[in-house]
Amino acid sequence: MGKDKLRKWKENETFSHVFEPDLKSIVDGAGLHKGGWAQEVFGNDHPITLELGCGKGEYTVGLARRHPERNFIGVDIKGHRFWRGAKTSQEEGLKNVAFLRTKIEFVQNFFAEGEVSEIWLTFSDPQPKDEKGTKRITSEVFLRRYRQFMVPDGIIHVKSDSPLLYALSKEGWENAGFPILEDSQDVYSDLVHRVLPEFADVLNIRTYYEQRWLEEGKNIHYLRTRV
Ligand SMILES: C[S@@+](CC[C@H](N)C(=O)[O-])C[C@H]1O[C@@H](n2cnc3c(N)ncnc32)[C@H](O)[C@@H]1O
Repeated sequence: MGKDKLRKWKENETFSHVFEPDLKSIVDGAGLHKGGWAQEVFGNDHPITLELGCGKGEYTVGLARRHPERNFIGVDIKGHRFWRGAKTSQEEGLKNVAFLRTKIEFVQNFFAEGEVSEIWLTFSDPQPKDEKGTKRITSEVFLRRYRQFMVPDGIIHVKSDSPLLYALSKEGWENAGFPILEDSQDVYSDLVHRVLPEFADVLNIRTYYEQRWLEEGKNIHYLRTRV
């Protein structure tokens, strides 16, 4: 086991805004702020945005800086990755950031009906062999799951380097009746030029994986729907 990973796991344990439930609480979920994230964790009643598969949490932290009137929770199974976002948010004194370590397959166990208003899915694994959409976290199968704990018409944003993930997600959403509210196959040459400046600024947040794909010359794709 790498020393660096161990150090980050240890430090995560000291952060009051990092939640790493044990397997039992992951499976039943109920012990951990379900229905009470805003009040119990953030001490307010502000709307909640999740970043699922957040990695280092660039969107979680970047959005939190821009929107102190909202709460942001990064979710990932790899704690040493979101350590970066947890550390940065602590250093910057951001009070509207938290991180939750769990598999996304269990995310509905942690949030009550109507508790989440927006979700960002940033550079998710495309899962090319997943024909049924039970592994690709942008699929209509996952959207139905997210709907269980979102506000009515809750918004889903997808940002991806993968033409395959883009195409499969879009087709699945259309077939399942989820409206395509925004759609671009090239965020930086197309989309940023036709949205409001505030949203262009949000689209310009670059994640760790995104930076790598941009250096390889890939186009960045974006999709938005509501559930
Ligand atoms: C390709 S990385 C993207 C990370 C980050 N969003 C970025 O753009 O840099 C995918 C991330 O999703 C996480 N992940 C993949 N499948 C997951 C699952 N089923 N549950 C929780 N996290 C998952 C991985 O640990 C990884 O950090």
